[in-house]
Amino acid sequence: MKPKIFLLTTGGTIAGAAAKSDALTGYRAGAVGAAELLAAVPALSEVARIASEEIAAIDSKDMTEAIWLRLAARVEAVLDAGAAGVVITHGTDTLEETAYFLHLTVKSEKPVVLTGAMRPATALSADGPLNIFDAVRLAASPAAHGQGVLVTLNGDIHSARDMEKVHTTAVQAFASPDVGVLGRMEEGAPRFRRRVLTRHTAASEFDLAGVTELPYVPILYGHAGADDRLAAAAVRGGAAGIVHAGAGNGSIAKAVLPTLAAAAAAGLPVVRASRTGAGAVLFAEDAYRMAGFIDADTLPPAKARILLALALLKTRERAEVQRMFHEY
Ligand code: SIN
Repeated sequence: MKPKIFLLTTGGTIAGAAAKSDALTGYRAGAVGAAELLAAVPALSEVARIASEEIAAIDSKDMTEAIWLRLAARVEAVLDAGAAGVVITHGTDTLEETAYFLHLTVKSEKPVVLTGAMRPATALSADGPLNIFDAVRLAASPAAHGQGVLVTLNGDIHSARDMEKVHTTAVQAFASPDVGVLGRMEEGAPRFRRRVLTRHTAASEFDLAGVTELPYVPILYGHAGADDRLAAAAVRGGAAGIVHAGAGNGSIAKAVLPTLAAAAAAGLPVVRASRTGAGAVLFAEDAYRMAGFIDADTLPPAKARILLALALLKTRERAEVQRMFHEY
């Protein structure tokens, strides 16, 4: 019998509709339902038995933590109920954040695969149908077991840990800048060429049981001419932790440093990430160490924000949070 794959839809360009087939921008995201998405790929029935359910029908810039909590619970439920794998269709703009959240929280070795599209479903040469086909083939493959949450678009297979959207409009919009792809879809099957070494899914210590919301963790963006007004506003606004997207090796301007150092001294975890898009944040200045800031390792700011929020459900202890940034 063919494996049962559960398709959970959340909206995005993959489900987008435009007035004309040559319109590649200015369309309505999330307009097309699961039945239409599946109808565009009749050969899916040769690979898997598909069940589908709509979780949301949104442009992913509007993704919320409440939807993440619902999605994570639903993924676990359908896997526990016997699905061989899950495919999630998602807008590409925040796909990496949802994927990483699930990578840290879904307790299963079974494949969970996210996909999206850069061109709406109504476009000439729409990329969604092949991406869905690849995602189902990946989710149905025993080779995808135990690899954490995966993302496939345009034939590439990425780990949720490492991938980022790196182009505003191109079909080849995703990359895993530091470590490269895990593999590629070749001749209709996944071909893995490396494995993820960081902790995830079944080996993750993060547990959403009883969690109804995540702690508030804003991101501050470092730039020339920065002053401390945004940092002060974040603290005043009730941040439980702060991620600073610094220039270069996670650098923090002298004008911002005292406010963040005071926040860290008061017990608010402050994470140094980098706005560069690649590379680990490493030792830069004694002042950062003395302030007790936490290094984001290779996590980009948006993913550092997710890990910090989950860490804060368990602890505010600096060494513990730093350990998590090294392990996840
Ligand atoms: C979205 O993220 O929902 C819109 C953009 C896209 O899916 O490519």
